[in-house]
Amino acid sequence: NCVKTCCSCCSCELHRRGVETILKHAAVLFEIAWEVANKVGGIYTVIQTKARLTAEEWGENYFLVGPYVESNVRTQVELIEPTNPTLKQTIDKMNSSGCKVYFGRWLIEGSPYVVLIDVAFTAWSLDSWKSELWDLCDIGVPWFDREANDAVLFGFLTAWLLGEFAAQSEEPPHIVAHFHEWLAGLGLVLCRHRKLPVATVFTTHATLLGRYLCAGNVDFYNNLGKFNLDKEAGDRQIYHRYCLERAAAHCAHVFTTVSQITAIEAEHLLKRKPDIVTPNGLNVKKFSAMHEFQNLHAQSKNRIQEFIRGHFYGHLDFNLDKCLFLFIAGRYEFSNKGADIFLEALARLNYLLRVNQSDVTVVAFFIMPARTNNFNVETLKGQAVRKQLWDTAHTVKERFGKKLYESLLVGQLPDVSKMLDKEDFTLMKRAIFATQRQSQPPVCTHNMLDDGSDPILNSVRRIGLFNSSSDRVKIIFHPEFLSSTSPLLPMDYEEFVRGCHLGVFPSYYEPWGYTPAECTVMGIPSISTNLSGFGCFMDEHIADPTAYGIYILDRRFRGVDESCHQLTSFLFQFCKQSRRQRIIQRNRTERLSDLLDWKYLGRYYVAARHMALAKAFPDFYLYEPHEPTSATGFRYPRPASVPPSPALSRHSSPRQSEGEDNADDDEHYDEDLEAEKDRVNIRQPLNMSSKTPLI
Ligand code: UDP
Ligand code: G6P
Ligand code: GLC
Repeated sequence: NCVKTCCSCCSCELHRRGVETILKHAAVLFEIAWEVANKVGGIYTVIQTKARLTAEEWGENYFLVGPYVESNVRTQVELIEPTNPTLKQTIDKMNSSGCKVYFGRWLIEGSPYVVLIDVAFTAWSLDSWKSELWDLCDIGVPWFDREANDAVLFGFLTAWLLGEFAAQSEEPPHIVAHFHEWLAGLGLVLCRHRKLPVATVFTTHATLLGRYLCAGNVDFYNNLGKFNLDKEAGDRQIYHRYCLERAAAHCAHVFTTVSQITAIEAEHLLKRKPDIVTPNGLNVKKFSAMHEFQNLHAQSKNRIQEFIRGHFYGHLDFNLDKCLFLFIAGRYEFSNKGADIFLEALARLNYLLRVNQSDVTVVAFFIMPARTNNFNVETLKGQAVRKQLWDTAHTVKERFGKKLYESLLVGQLPDVSKMLDKEDFTLMKRAIFATQRQSQPPVCTHNMLDDGSDPILNSVRRIGLFNSSSDRVKIIFHPEFLSSTSPLLPMDYEEFVRGCHLGVFPSYYEPWGYTPAECTVMGIPSISTNLSGFGCFMDEHIADPTAYGIYILDRRFRGVDESCHQLTSFLFQFCKQSRRQRIIQRNRTERLSDLLDWKYLGRYYVAARHMALAKAFPDFYLYEPHEPTSATGFRYPRPASVPPSPALSRHSSPRQSEGEDNADDDEHYDEDLEAEKDRVNIRQPLNMSSKTPLI
């Protein structure tokens, strides 16, 4: 009675029958990660953006499992009674045995169910579980490693949950459990050890050793096969974590990574070749008018400009209309994320802009959370001064308007010399005096706890970019993730990205890299590298990525200095573009969004689950991968439209205003039409490439 399931082609007969079997047996999907409703980095983005699609596929039988963190629950989760009777019994049983397990709806798109486990509440079991772990597989977790302790608690509790769920079910259930990253991996190991009826998938979003080795000045990619793994892990005091990760990778029915480059790394460092590559997607929202995202760029840019007006008060000697906003964002891993070479390239760019007497000013934002004790006074003062100037201008304008109105009421043209009186001038002078400052606009917006040893600040000190008037490149380090409730820069991350001109992510270690992907779907050009999963993916699927505003820096075959030189040249070229060229480039960038949509990329997850079901329940499911052929490989062609040069992109007949500063929405329509012509239907070739699925 064997029903086949296929790999990644969502519309074929095999797939349909596979789905029917899943439905017939009321199979249940648990997706388990430390970042469920708990933002740390990109894994949160994977789960949050994918939730709608997975919830649509699995309906009431989809449950995300994560840690209970009160502050997150208060803002993101609606706690409710468990909807599934078996799960209700499971949770009740656990709670009556000394656990604290909550059930709710995560208030994001797709409103998936979440099971949240309070690991601290069960900390009393830590020692006995650690000794069980030692007896089971000789992994000893030291007392001082808080994260690993959490991983032990989370692992034992998730395995308990799945075991209890299986025990409470009347019929033998078909359970798929998808575990993300080493922090959740122990649950998988225990499921296999306890022989639970669970089809397991393990996805690694980065290997622990890879991250550590790269952060430590090692020539990583040229030595992938040569590391003494146990020793390297031991030297970095992460041997126990490494063992947990490696055990999970080996115990899983199906092992996946987020990119080809991490697949190769995993093969060397975890000694298992991934079965499938599951690239990360996004929930792409399309606007009905294609130029809508351009309008959003202009709106958000205005808000960033307001912030700049405050931050640079007293030093606003540059033209804000000719100011470009660049940014780097993400977890603070200074060299892994390429902040080191970005700073060096900015120093070189500053020199180039100065010697070429460019009228462009670049403001580079660094959004990377570090330890601080809040905003610094000087930065807050900047925004207060700006507000005061605005209020003063508003007051004087009101008084001026009133006089004007009164004069018109009596049928006279106003005497302009009397429109502003002494009091108005005093008000304005006082406001101007308040803008005087002795110091330069601050580089850092917060009081850093480790100011003296902070790598970004130390680099800034070394390259001497202190926001002085003569510098064409200014730096603002915001060591906290952005939030719309901030008193300083009240914007959420998405709004901020939309308002910038270029995202710069010159990472050395980046299994995927959501930040440039997010830029792409918002129509903002970005720089990534051929060592990042995203960069390689785009390079594989686009014939001429640069033409689409996807700059891919070579960090694989060049030394650091050469890469830095290439980065400087990307930045300098970007600064030389006119507004019109930037608009055209943004249109092209946005056209790539379909490539990154979960609607298409979700199928690799489907394949991984089906493969796991076939391995765990061979009597019910059979997995038959389609042979990928080169014909299924897919590439976006070079844009058929004109290259982004002002001369060539001019209208064929003369128009009234061609000047770049008069760029208005009209310009988008030509490009929108062109975009329609160029738009490629990627629906059809969605096995995409012979390279992507490693099956
Ligand atoms: N991010 C954010 N707020 C910020 C800056 C970044 O929410 O102020 C998010 C960003 O949207 C992205 C994630 O942080 O989804 C970083 O993920 P990425 O894969 O680039 O790197 P990771 O931190 O996982 O290594
Ligand atoms: C969008 C807006 C235009 C604006 C332009 C500024 O395209 O729709 O009205 O002129 O942004 O672009 P820039 O690259 O100079 O920020
Ligand atoms: C990891 C990686 C990052 C990736 C994210 C989501 O945190 O560092 O490159 O985008 O996971 O897969």
